[in-house]
Amino acid sequence: MTQSPLTAQQDGLLHVAIIMDGNGRWATARGLPRSAGHRQGARAVRPIVEKAPELGIGTLTLYAFSADNWRRPEREVSALMRLFLVYLRAETARCIKQGVRVSVIGRREGLSPQLCAAIDDTEAATAQGRTLHLRLAVNYSAREAIVRAARRLDPSSDCSCEAFARLLADDGSPAPDVDLLIRSGGEQRLSDFLLWECAYAELYFTPRMWPEITPADLEAAVREFRGRERRFGRVTAPAQQAGAASSPAHRRLPGRITQALPTAQ
Ligand code: FPP
Repeated sequence: MTQSPLTAQQDGLLHVAIIMDGNGRWATARGLPRSAGHRQGARAVRPIVEKAPELGIGTLTLYAFSADNWRRPEREVSALMRLFLVYLRAETARCIKQGVRVSVIGRREGLSPQLCAAIDDTEAATAQGRTLHLRLAVNYSAREAIVRAARRLDPSSDCSCEAFARLLADDGSPAPDVDLLIRSGGEQRLSDFLLWECAYAELYFTPRMWPEITPADLEAAVREFRGRERRFGRVTAPAQQAGAASSPAHRRLPGRITQALPTAQ
């Protein structure tokens, strides 16, 4: 692998990924069962999806259920699975209308046939959406995704990072690298989410619990992101201009990365 793995979104739109944490604590603080927190969390999703295109977001990946979340009490897992089903059935028509293409990433094994059918229906019905690519990560583990991609490798081929990124996508539709990773709920960790795609992601943590997150929070995160300087291994912009690139040719960044920089500012 001789090139930086950065896979920029061709159109300059952002890929924002969100770890929607804090549903349980939000509910517990109000004397409610955790499932009530998840229901409220599900309600918080639509306004975020609707706001995203206005903020220049082309791909939005939401962490809805990790492969490790199966370890939760059976009752909570069932409530979450029911919520996903209800969400897909209730939101598909709206997504078609708003040009939102929905994909579900993660393993289908373990999901009910009913949920798998709903995922297939929603993906097929929204496939033409061009305003936003909404990816819901369900039964998702980044490590497992990397291992699956490695198994797909043709041992005789010389695999570049870009080729590997294509193998990562279970649906054959590779997502661009994450520009901005947001995590609500006050914790500061990645929890096995998009480990490859977040190689150069800017990280944004907010103490607010997911059910309280509004489009204004998304806007604040994107505004902060746009104020950051992304260097992708280089020095600061003035120092970069002062001296020629010192990296050996085999480590030079591909042009697409340079082209991607203005959107990051
Ligand atoms: C983490 O909060 C959240 C989850 C494991 C589930 C996320 C699900 C939703 C936001 C609702 C459904 C989503 C869609 C797309 C319909 P937590 O329960 O771990 O919270 P805690 O850390 O406070 O316990």
